Amino acid sequence: MTTILVVYASDYGSTEKMALAAAEGINSVPGGVAVIKKAEEVTAEDMTASDGVLIGSPVHMGSMDWRVKKMIDTVCSGLWMQNKMNGKVVGAFASGGGFGGGGGGVELTFLAMLNNFAELGMLIVPLPKMTPDYKKGGLHWGPYGRSADEDMNHGGVSAEVLALTKRHAVHVTRAAAALKDQALFAD
Ligand SMILES: Cc1cc2nc3c(=O)[nH]c(=O)nc-3n(C[C@H](O)[C@H](O)[C@H](O)COP(=O)(O)O)c2cc1C
Repeated sequence: MTTILVVYASDYGSTEKMALAAAEGINSVPGGVAVIKKAEEVTAEDMTASDGVLIGSPVHMGSMDWRVKKMIDTVCSGLWMQNKMNGKVVGAFASGGGFGGGGGGVELTFLAMLNNFAELGMLIVPLPKMTPDYKKGGLHWGPYGRSADEDMNHGGVSAEVLALTKRHAVHVTRAAAALKDQALFAD
């Protein structure tokens, strides 16, 4: 069994849809089990019981949602002290409005989240560009769901982005299964 914890925050449902697509991807891998939780609900035990983590956030003011950061600072910092997450895998996904065409802060959102998980000694799973639907919302850091057009009309994330998120979750689950019990950083 390979357990992947999907953690996310969402106000308007786009990141949540991506989290649900990720859970579908995890459960589609033989032996894969998704545990899906909102950031406010996550406990240290959820983290330590997992073989990997998928973290998802809306872009808020050019960076990650405060609930995701609070979870990292409260739940994960103790695990950093205790070296509990070393060698597990992590992947990320994000949703942003994209006002103006570019989507201010999406890459910083990915980097901020993944930087925090690298501190925990976790191995980042990227999203390779040959992944189907990559051109519809792929960054090498993970899938990006744009939920609005350039005028801020909110249409939600596309089916292609949800498929890409599902696929990213398959990659994360396979990586976690391959690395499970390998004690990479043991003496
Ligand atoms: C407080 C706040 C700040 C936001 N800041 C940004 C931003 O800096 N860049 C961006 O692309 N979208 C920004 N957005 C738009 C959201 O990222 C976007 O609507 C996202 O899809 C929401 O995800 P959700 O449906 O899971 O809540 C912001 C939204 C809110 C509520």
